[in-house]
Amino acid sequence: MRGIVKERLFTPGPTPLLFEAQVKAVTRDLHHRTEDFRKLVRETVELLRGYFNTKNDVLLFASSGTGAMEGAVSNLLSPGDRILVGTAGKFGERWLGLAQAYGIEAVKVESPYGKPLDMDEIKKCLDRSGPFRAVFVQATETSTGVSHDVKTLGALVKERPETVLVVDAITGLGTTVLRPDEWGLDVVIGGSQKATMMPPGLSFASVSEKAWKAVEKAKLPRYYFDFAKERKNLAKGETSYTPATSLVVNLHGVLTYIRETGLERLIANAAMLADGTRQAARALGMKPFAESSPANAVTAICAPEGMDSGAIIKEIRSQFGAIVANGQGTMKGKIFRVAHLGYFDAVDLFALIAVLEIALTKLGRKVDLGSGVRAAQETYLKHSDEAQRAGEAA
Ligand SMILES: Cc1ncc(COP(=O)(O)O)c(C=O)c1O
Repeated sequence: MRGIVKERLFTPGPTPLLFEAQVKAVTRDLHHRTEDFRKLVRETVELLRGYFNTKNDVLLFASSGTGAMEGAVSNLLSPGDRILVGTAGKFGERWLGLAQAYGIEAVKVESPYGKPLDMDEIKKCLDRSGPFRAVFVQATETSTGVSHDVKTLGALVKERPETVLVVDAITGLGTTVLRPDEWGLDVVIGGSQKATMMPPGLSFASVSEKAWKAVEKAKLPRYYFDFAKERKNLAKGETSYTPATSLVVNLHGVLTYIRETGLERLIANAAMLADGTRQAARALGMKPFAESSPANAVTAICAPEGMDSGAIIKEIRSQFGAIVANGQGTMKGKIFRVAHLGYFDAVDLFALIAVLEIALTKLGRKVDLGSGVRAAQETYLKHSDEAQRAGEAA
């Protein structure tokens, strides 16, 4: 039975778009070497600071998130430097790939997929195998749905003047409480197609004073992703090269919406959706892949024994137009991933769980219809009661 079916993204990037910001972006003619655009850039950078929760410089590039990740490597390091990479999934491995591409020796501290990084292990490595020029990690590992304790890591790195901490928060921003200035997160990386409710095409990097000192000394080659050059130009409201003008208009629109909504509310929303998804999965007899330290950004769910996660994804997509993500690499077929990044609400949660129940039923699993939805509803009520009590106490 397939009549009208709306396509809906539940993928961890691209994510659902904020329509009003999107419309403004595609209906505005704009040249980048004008006062109008300079004003827009200055305001957008200020809004980005609010979104990142920082007073540090925030740079803006026309690229996907990996561009800013590469920029962090090429701007902070010199030939012969050693770095520590904390890895527990596909995106942690990306730091290793980048280090290799630039001939940088990376010492890795690894956790199995589905587990968070072990901060004691990292401390031991910092103490025994250093010094390191930088530590590279994720705030949330999107491939497994795990959140890493970057606050504790920040405290460990802060006391080492020769080491900077680089956090890929591409799916951490807008879903996870991050305090870069307090915690010592020297470089924080973001990307536009995540909790910022807009298309791919922009990457962001916040840079602390400690990191700027490292940039001054760093000698790896760089051209497009030149942090110092970008900072100089942004101070004038300009970018070094032709900016993605319509995406900057879009970004200004979504960040204004997020500021008006409240960053804490955006994060609380993601936390509620993630909790609801986990509780629903459990009620349906499935295990969240991340048993400890699950991320708010995305929930990875293990497919039932003997069932390929791809079959669930295909069923949901073909019957209902809802797109959830498969596992990546070795996790393909074993897990499916549901995003809570940005423009998702409780209706999305209830609806997705309802179609998941139907998909599982069609695939031959015995499902008590409504049991997952009920768990999601109860989770919603619990979170809304807690938010109300917190509001009354404040
Ligand atoms: C944590 C994390 N890091 C890096 C990336 C890569 O970003 P991009 O595909 O925008 O280059 C992603 C994309 O999903 C991600 O989730």
